[in-house]
Amino acid sequence: MTTFEDIKQKIKVIAENYKDEPTGGYITGDGPIPCDILFVGEAPGKTEVEEGKPFVGMAGKTFESYLNSIGLSRDKIRITNTCFVRPITIKEGKNGRTSISNRPPKTKEVEMFREVLDEEIALVNPKVIVTLGNVPLKRLTNFKSIGECHGSLYFNQELKRHVFPMYHPSALTYNRNEEFLKLYEKDWELLADALKNI
Ligand code: URA
Repeated sequence: MTTFEDIKQKIKVIAENYKDEPTGGYITGDGPIPCDILFVGEAPGKTEVEEGKPFVGMAGKTFESYLNSIGLSRDKIRITNTCFVRPITIKEGKNGRTSISNRPPKTKEVEMFREVLDEEIALVNPKVIVTLGNVPLKRLTNFKSIGECHGSLYFNQELKRHVFPMYHPSALTYNRNEEFLKLYEKDWELLADALKNI
């Protein structure tokens, strides 16, 4: 049986040997093993790599406050990513200064961690996988977009597990309107209800 140490080692080897595109470090998942609830995000950002944990930056703070709002805390759930390296873009300015920004992971960067994420899911053995945003949704299910499926519990035949798709917490930053906020908050209530029945 694969251990978390094996998974950590695999992530390290993959991340250190990946030279196709610029990346800014890597992290592993965080939280108890086994665990009934596994959240899967997209990829780490700067703060996550600095602290060595997923969802501890700005999106992470939003995530944690909603998690707490339904009576859960980080020590009760596991959280991981679809891509374990921080995907970055490096730009050289005219003044000679370089700027580094996050970018979404490329398909090959999601695919290079396919086996690792599958092994983490098997090891954690969750009753429900909560996908955060389109990247984990497309990697783990046949849904084409979060808009068509968020806020409901599905039984996924391939995974043989329940999946609950949610928007990524950073969607709140891009959709600054009351309507989206209500929809996002409702999804957390629906998640709380779904968790009572599994
Ligand atoms: N966003 C993600 O998708 N994952 C993280 O770990 C942090 C922010």
